Order: sequence, then structure tokens, then C-alpha cells
Amino acid sequence: MSNALFRTKKVEQSILDTEEPEHALKKSLSALDLTVFGVGVIIGTGIFVLTGTVARNNAGPAVALAFVAAGVVCALAALCYAEFASTVPVAGSAYTFSYASLGELPAWTIGWDLVLEFALGTAVVAVGWSGYVASLLDNAGWHLPEALSGRDGADGFGFDILAAALVLVLTAILVLGTKLSARVTSVVVAIKVTVVLVVIIAGLFFINGDNYDPFIPKAQDVPAGDSLQSPLIQLMFGWAPSNFGVMGIFTAASVVFFAFIGFDVVATAAEETKNPQRDMPRGILGSLMICTALYVAVSIVVTGMQHYTELSITAPLADAFKATGHPWFAGFISFGAAVGLTTVCMILLLGQTRVFFAMSRDGLLPRFFSHVHPRFKTPHRPTILLGVLIAVLAGFTPLSELAELVNIGTLFAFVVVAIGVIVLRKSRPDLHRAFRTPWVPVLPIVSVLASLWLMLNLPAETWLRFAIWMAVGFAVYFLYGRSHSRLGRGQETAVGQVIKPDSGEGR
Ligand code: ALA
Repeated sequence: MSNALFRTKKVEQSILDTEEPEHALKKSLSALDLTVFGVGVIIGTGIFVLTGTVARNNAGPAVALAFVAAGVVCALAALCYAEFASTVPVAGSAYTFSYASLGELPAWTIGWDLVLEFALGTAVVAVGWSGYVASLLDNAGWHLPEALSGRDGADGFGFDILAAALVLVLTAILVLGTKLSARVTSVVVAIKVTVVLVVIIAGLFFINGDNYDPFIPKAQDVPAGDSLQSPLIQLMFGWAPSNFGVMGIFTAASVVFFAFIGFDVVATAAEETKNPQRDMPRGILGSLMICTALYVAVSIVVTGMQHYTELSITAPLADAFKATGHPWFAGFISFGAAVGLTTVCMILLLGQTRVFFAMSRDGLLPRFFSHVHPRFKTPHRPTILLGVLIAVLAGFTPLSELAELVNIGTLFAFVVVAIGVIVLRKSRPDLHRAFRTPWVPVLPIVSVLASLWLMLNLPAETWLRFAIWMAVGFAVYFLYGRSHSRLGRGQETAVGQVIKPDSGEGR
């Protein structure tokens, strides 16, 4: 039985699958499209909302260092992702990579995990978007009824109608085709990057050096409360839970990590890339570098404009300008944030449907979901199903805890991908790798340890929720996926090849 659980799908078979006419996606994206795509999804709720929250609660002005720490963890993971994405250029990201290297059960685990990351990530960003739009509507004198403006504002029943509507509209756009959405994305990304640059450049003139004192606030004990809220690492070693100080920077890093989520989504579009071998690494690393530089600059400027204890936790970038007496800038930033969060939401939704599509194409989820639309060439069935589910979720979602759950899921995926790079180098040294991760196996091992470190800095409660989600996933796999797997059944494909477990030649 253990052989069946760890049967691997040949990389060549994964690539061949994409050539089945019924199950093929259009190849239309270039390196520039991918970078725009990456920046489009990476810059979002993380920098627009979480910067203020973690500066105030965990790190003070040292939130800039938290962004550096989270950026380093992501860069290490990106170097592993880039090798995998350029070797196995098919839809499904880490899911496909691990099917080729680690085996079916680990692949299922990661696919299930990615569904969690993208679905909840989409919902979190949609709710953040709705907050900014509601505030813009308020400025114009329009107010939504409380019951329709989300859980936080509501007494009793609360449904965030704006967030749900956004997800449904984006679902329709995605069904119509990736190229259309990529075009929309470029315009929106331009607006978003302009807003971020305005924050950095205009904000420089309003910095007060006193606000940087202390840059790393002294560690403070937090009152004993529900121990499940403490970072797992503090519980494991029996440390007194504390905020700020050096440990506070890592707690902050494990939260602002959310701001970097998205570069891995670029890898999910490998199958739709014209020249994945060359363009994937450029797209992934390029978008990650641009975003890290912008985040560090924004957090230094914002914590210089306002003392960290006074930063807003809902709209810190806009409110820092209000606090320095420049409400016009604040309105402009809110508008840009609302526009920018739209693409983040759309691309997370896209990544999610592509993972679901890949799992269904392999028979681990019903094959019904892997037929592409005859005219639009998009996986319309999972897009519509998941779009509706996420719209409902976004309508009822409380934000903060879900962001942490998204982070743990993504970090877990990083761990699996880094291990996968080492395994695939050993099991398939013959494969052409357009991009090779440097210093294997040292770099992937460091990447695993760095991701684990951030995971340990997340609350114990988040670990518990993650364990429950994964347990449900195992149940689905053993009740459905294992017996329906095309790999397990050795099923004929449309081009007459038989899918067989990788026999291990070349090992
Ligand atoms: N990185 C994305 C954001 O910050 C998910 O919203």
C-alpha cells in the first residue's frame, strides 16, 4: 500500500497531459505578463493593512525588519519554486511538482493545502477590499445597511455584500479567459504601484525622526490569556509570551508574510506561459524583488510619519497622511488600495481554480471539473463552483485569524516544494532544468528551516485549525482520490499514452 501512496507521476506525463485537446489551457503569457501578474497579486492587504497592525502590536518601526525576514524566507522558497516551475511547466504549482517528486499522497496533501491557501486568501482580500470601498462610499455620502456591510459592522446577521459581489464578478471575468484578465490586471497593477510610490515619495517629506525612537521597542510581557493565542514556539519552550523585542520581529514576520503570498501563484500559470523554461524564474524572482523593496520603503516611511503606537490598524497608509494633515493624499491612497486589491483577489482565485483543475485532471477529484470550456478554453466548472463558495465565505468571514491560517498553509507548501527539489534532483537528474536552484541541497534545506521557523511563530490555534483541515483532506483522499486516481488506474489518455507510475528509471 505504501507504494501506491507514494507513486509518482512522470514529469513527461504531466507535460503530455496538457496537450490533450479537451484538457489544454491556452499558452499566452510572457515573462513581463508573469511579473505584472506577480506584482498584481503580491501587493495587497499585507502592505495596505497589516503593516499598521503589526507595527502597533508586535514590532514598532522594526516592522521593516519583519518584511526583510519574511522576504528572505520567500526568496529562498522562490529559488526552489523557480526550478520546479521551469522543470514541470504545468498547471497546479506545488501540487504538480510534488506529484512528480514525492508521490501521490504528499501531492494530494499539498493540493488540498493550496486550495485552503487560495480560497481563504481570496476571501480575506475580498473583505479587505470591501472595507476600502465602503470607506470611499462613505466619503461620497452613501451608506450600506449594517446587515449588508459585513460581520464587524453588524448586530446579529451580517453579510458582506460588497466582498461577495466582488468575488462573483471576478469569477465571471476568469471564466471568459486568462488573457482578458491579464489585460485588466496590467492597468490595475499600474495604479497600485503608483499609489505605493506616492506613499513612499510624498511620505518622505513628512517623516519625523523622533518616531524611530525606539526602532526596536523593548520586549513586553503579554498578560496571560488563552494560551492557544500564543506563538507555538513560545508554548513549546515554555517562554513567557511577549511582544516587541527581537522575538516580536519574528512574530510580525510570520504575519506580514501574508504580504508576500502570490509569487507562488505565478508558478501556477506555468502551463499558460509561452516559454516557461526561461520566463517562469524571471517572473517569480522579478516580482518578489520589486515587492520586497517597496514594502521595506513603505514601512520605513509610514512608521516615520506617525509614531507606531498611533498607527491605524485598518488603513495605516491613508491614515498616516490624514494624521500629518493631508487628507487629499489619504483619499487617493484609499482609492488605489481598493482598485489594487481587486487584482489580488482575482489572481488568488485563478490560482485556486488551476490547482483544483490539475487535481481533477489527475482523477484525485472528479474529472467533471477538468473539462475546459470549448470556446473560452478556461476551466469554467471549478472556477464557477469555487467562486460561488468563496463569495459566500467572504460574505461571512472574520479577517485576522484566517490570514494566519493562509500563512501556515503557504509555508507548509514551501517546505514541501524545497524537499521536492532535492528529491527530484536525485530521482530525475536527467530532466532539463532551465533554472537550477543554486547550492542544492544546502539552499533547499535552509529554505525548509526558515519556513518552519515562521510557522512556529504562528499561534497554536492556527496550527490546530490547519490540522483539522488536513485531516478532512486525508479523509477525502482515502474515500475518493486514491481509488479514482488516473495514475493508479493506469488510464489511457487522449493522445494514446498510458499513465503509469514512474518506475524509477534514472534513479
Ligand atoms: N500578498 C497578498 C496581499 O497582501 C495576498 O494581499
